[in-house]
Amino acid sequence: MCFGPNVTWAINAALHGFALGPGDHVLSGRLEHNSTARPLRLVRDRRGTDWEAVPPGPDGILDPEEFRRRRRPATRLIVLNHASNVTGALQPAREIKEAAGDVPILVDTAQTAGSLPLDDMASWADVICFTGHKGLLGPTGTGGLWLGEGMPFSPLAVGGSGSRSESLEHPDFLPDALEAGTLNTHGLAGLAAAAEFLLETGIGRIRDHEMRLAGIFMEGASKVPGLSVLGPGPGDPRRVATVSVVMEQASSSDLARMLEEGYGIMTRSGLHCAPMAHQASGSYPGGSTRFSFGFFNTEEEAATAARALREIAASRGRG
Ligand SMILES: Cc1ncc(COP(=O)(O)O)c(C=O)c1O
Repeated sequence: MCFGPNVTWAINAALHGFALGPGDHVLSGRLEHNSTARPLRLVRDRRGTDWEAVPPGPDGILDPEEFRRRRRPATRLIVLNHASNVTGALQPAREIKEAAGDVPILVDTAQTAGSLPLDDMASWADVICFTGHKGLLGPTGTGGLWLGEGMPFSPLAVGGSGSRSESLEHPDFLPDALEAGTLNTHGLAGLAAAAEFLLETGIGRIRDHEMRLAGIFMEGASKVPGLSVLGPGPGDPRRVATVSVVMEQASSSDLARMLEEGYGIMTRSGLHCAPMAHQASGSYPGGSTRFSFGFFNTEEEAATAARALREIAASRGRG
């Protein structure tokens, strides 16, 4: 395990190790966050790597067969956002890996680590990137990556490592190779404490709670005139508790403002650093208003959020 400041760093560090160049081919989903889309665009523009983003089906879920079909002899890597930070759609990552045969898969777990049991992921994934400040409940400025057996790596930065100090060459062993300079030790201590809490509580229990709240919210929201809820519906296990809505009567930012001012409900509006995901979901360029249900939210709060949407829709002439 190598630690760094966030999952964006982890993804960049991992991609750097693959030394992608002209003639190489990379597959990703079309629901990627800019933390993978921009590095992939950079290798395409600067190094001539062919990057192909696979569109999801109408339900927002990627079809593993598409990865089997599009895989080529030159395919070096699959990059996958495990769950969309826009629609909450949970991707069949393991099935995609199996369909693509021996092509390594890099999984961005920003929306799943800490919210979904991932115990078996290290048995089939090749690179797992994570951020500390979301479902893992740690402080900002923490994240990292896990590299499977035989995965290539190459430092993004070199310098002090606290090891082999007699040499001017940066260490070529993990984690030192990827951990140049002093780490955010206070943040990592916080992340360790959060991990203890998660393990004591049980990720399965956290998942059940978050999904119950998302279900209550989506049931209520789906009855609001003029409102669409993106991604798989209530009770569908192919989602996480990140739920985006689009209201005909208000822009995504106006809706976020009304929720905050009228009800004290904090959401995030706009494109969520994921323009491709909005294009694939039909919510581009206006974006959506996103609710995220966590372990410390209550059923009452989920119901209040749905009621707030109903009242706002009615105040704007629908409902
Ligand atoms: C799916 C996904 N990937 C990557 C990121 C980037 O996270 P970080 O800012 O920790 O690098 C986020 C968070 O915004 C995300 O939701």
